[in-house]
Amino acid sequence: MSQTAMRIPVAAPDLAEEEERNVLAALRSTWISSTGSFLNEFEAEFARLCDTDGALAVCNGTVALHLALLGLDVRPGDEILVPSLTYIATANAVRYVGAEPVFVDVDPMTWCIDPELLEASITRKTKGIIAVHLYGHPADMDAINHIAAVHGLWVVEDAAEAHFACYKGRPTGGLGDLGTFSFYGNKIITSGAGGAVTVKDKHLELRLRTLRGQGMDPNRRYYFPVTGYNFRLTNLAAALLCGQLARRDSILEARERVFSAYEEMLAGIPGIRFQPTATWAKRAPWLFSILVDAREFGRTRDELGALLSEMGIDTRPFFIALHRLPPFRLESRARNENLPHTDALSQSGINLPTFSALTDTQLEYITSSIRQVRR
Ligand SMILES: Cc1ncc(COP(=O)(O)O)c(C=O)c1O
Repeated sequence: MSQTAMRIPVAAPDLAEEEERNVLAALRSTWISSTGSFLNEFEAEFARLCDTDGALAVCNGTVALHLALLGLDVRPGDEILVPSLTYIATANAVRYVGAEPVFVDVDPMTWCIDPELLEASITRKTKGIIAVHLYGHPADMDAINHIAAVHGLWVVEDAAEAHFACYKGRPTGGLGDLGTFSFYGNKIITSGAGGAVTVKDKHLELRLRTLRGQGMDPNRRYYFPVTGYNFRLTNLAAALLCGQLARRDSILEARERVFSAYEEMLAGIPGIRFQPTATWAKRAPWLFSILVDAREFGRTRDELGALLSEMGIDTRPFFIALHRLPPFRLESRARNENLPHTDALSQSGINLPTFSALTDTQLEYITSSIRQVRR
């Protein structure tokens, strides 16, 4: 059978009747724009699940980060500590508010920002830390929060890739001052495009709500005390999200099945290593990630990706380290940033197809293809 004829994508949304019913209900109600009962329901439920007092639905995960930084009053000249091994949105949002992302290496055991390295990068300009829960694994939040408290910094969790992950039994999104999420089509919970900011502090929540809605005072319609933004999500998208939240257990279970299958079927292949999980972590089953040791496997990560692609299997290489990319590399070099763990992971990591509908046959095909191309 030609597998190329039916390529296996890296990600696919898990959508069911619940979502269809909700979207149709929103449509028929005519409440398809930026107010409506699904938005209220989503925000209440998402805050509850993240163990925060509030959640704000926004139009995507990049906007969620941007809104968080605006809410925290980040200004031109401020420095924000971020990992370099992340999606570019994390650092782009810092630039949107005129601040500078300062890159800190990751811990090879979590692939997230290394708390032990934070202090060396703190200057008088440092205002906060964005901890990214990379590829579903939570960052070491107690250690990060401790350093932040000692230096008077805030902490934002970028939980775009880690819906419902837990740190020492506590859910992501409720572990820092603010949490941000993406509901892009490849995420665990999705509305095609969408995002959220989770918040504990009531004053900060009010400020975020004001900034999200063009600066309008949430308690006084058409009065605008500040310059704000149109960062809202639609009730139509929230309808989809409500369906996804209601079915989260089944979505997570289906993805865990895929993770277990990969762990079993790829076990013992020389040169293939799995993402480690810290003892205190419950990782979210986002994209299944492996590291390729080119010497042991006989192929580089890029060769593996290219060969799998020829066999009809889409994969995604790990993020190119942000300190190596044109928008950031000169500044990073000027600061003499040296991020060996970031570079090593960025060059050897690859994400395999991970979505609910992957069949056992497809999983068998993907894993046997990996075995087959090894030299
Ligand atoms: C870590 C991280 N932060 C932020 C984002 C941005 O989210 P969005 O694509 O919804 O803007 C993403 C992914 O898309 C991400 O992976």
